[in-house]
Amino acid sequence: MGQPIGLASLEVKILKQMQEQDTVILGIETSCDETSAAVLVGGRELRSHIISSQVATHQKYGGVVPEVASREHILHIGEVVEQALAEAEVSFKDLTAVAVTYGPGLVGSLLVGVAFAKALAYAAGIPLIAVNHLEGHVYANFLEHEDLEFPLLALLASGGHTNLLLFQDHLDYRVLGRTRDDAAGEAFDKVARALGLGYPGGPYIQKAAATGNPKAFEFPRAMLEAGSLDFSFSGLKSAVLNTLNTAKMKGQELNTNDLAASFQEAVIDVLVKKALLALEHYPVKTFALAGGVAANTLLRESLARELSLRRIRFVYPSPVFCTDNGAMIAMAGHYRFLAGNYASWKLNAVPGLSL
Ligand code: KG4
Ligand code: ZN
Repeated sequence: MGQPIGLASLEVKILKQMQEQDTVILGIETSCDETSAAVLVGGRELRSHIISSQVATHQKYGGVVPEVASREHILHIGEVVEQALAEAEVSFKDLTAVAVTYGPGLVGSLLVGVAFAKALAYAAGIPLIAVNHLEGHVYANFLEHEDLEFPLLALLASGGHTNLLLFQDHLDYRVLGRTRDDAAGEAFDKVARALGLGYPGGPYIQKAAATGNPKAFEFPRAMLEAGSLDFSFSGLKSAVLNTLNTAKMKGQELNTNDLAASFQEAVIDVLVKKALLALEHYPVKTFALAGGVAANTLLRESLARELSLRRIRFVYPSPVFCTDNGAMIAMAGHYRFLAGNYASWKLNAVPGLSL
C-alpha cells in the first residue's frame, strides 16, 4: 500500500514549523552611528536588544563623522554582542544563524559589523545572513505585529532613503517610488542644522514644531509629474534656507518654531499624499511605515486618520524600532534564513546597496 496522499507535504509543513519556532538569530547592525545587537527566537520572541548610540559623540560636529563612527563601532561591538547573548541567556553555540547589515551605510561602519558577524558565524559553524538595512527597517514592523497580511504597501523614510514599496510576500517586493534628491530625514537634519537646532534633526524639529504655527510660512510641496510616486525634498529644504537668508540680510528675526512647524507640515503633506496615491494604484489592505522618520508623530497621526477613513490596516514600529537597531536585522535575517538565503564567507560591505 502506498503512503496516504499528502503525508509527505504534511511532514514538510511540520518540519518547517519546527524550524521556524526553533531559530535563534543574532542580528547585528552597524551601518551608521548605532552599534546594536539583538537575539530573536522563533521569529517572534525578542529575547534581548542592545543599542549603543554614538549620537552624543557626533552631536558636537552637527552630523555623523564616518571615521569616528567606525572607531566607536570597533570599541563597542564586542561588548554589545556579549550583552545581547547574556541577556538572552544563550551562548554563541545556541545560535542558528548570524544576520548582519551589509549595506547601505558608511563603509567603515558596515565593515566592523560584517567582519564581526563573519568571524562569529564561522567559529560557531552556522550560516551568515546578509541583510539589506532598508529591508530591515520594513521588517521592524514584524517585531510587534505578528499577523501582517500580504500584499502590503510600505513607506520607508529614513536619513538616507525615502521609498514606497509593494510587498507581495516575505522578501518579495518592488520599489514603486524613491527620492530623486534628498531623503525626508536628510531634509529634517539639514533644516534643523540651519535653524540652529540639534542633531539628528527630526526629533528637534518635531519638538519645536509643537508650539509653532504650521501655516506661518508657505513652503513648496513637490509632487513631480502627475501620477509619479517619486519624491523630491531638496526644493523644500532650499526654500527654508532662502527664507532664513533673506530674513538675515534684512535684519529680521523669524520665529524658529513657526519655521519648524511649516517645514514639518510640508514634508508630511507630501509623504501622506504620495502614500495615498500609491494606495489608489495598489489597493492593498495593509500599510506599514518604517525608518527613522516613522517616529514622527504628525506623520503617524496624519496617516492613521487617512487610512482609517479608507479602512486600511495601518502599522508602524515603536520609536526604538524606527531608528537603526539590531532587532529589525534579526527579524529580516529570520526570514532570509527560512528561505535558505545564506551569504558566502566572501561577504563584503556594500555602502551603496539599493533595494
Ligand atoms: O532610519 P534611521 O535611524 O537612519 C537611517 O537609516 O538613515 O533614520 C534617521 C533619520 C534622521 O534623519 C532623523 O532626523 C530622522 O530619522 N528622525 C525623525 C524623527 N526621529 C528621527 N524625523 C522626523 N521626526 C522624528 N521624530
Ligand atoms: Zn536606518
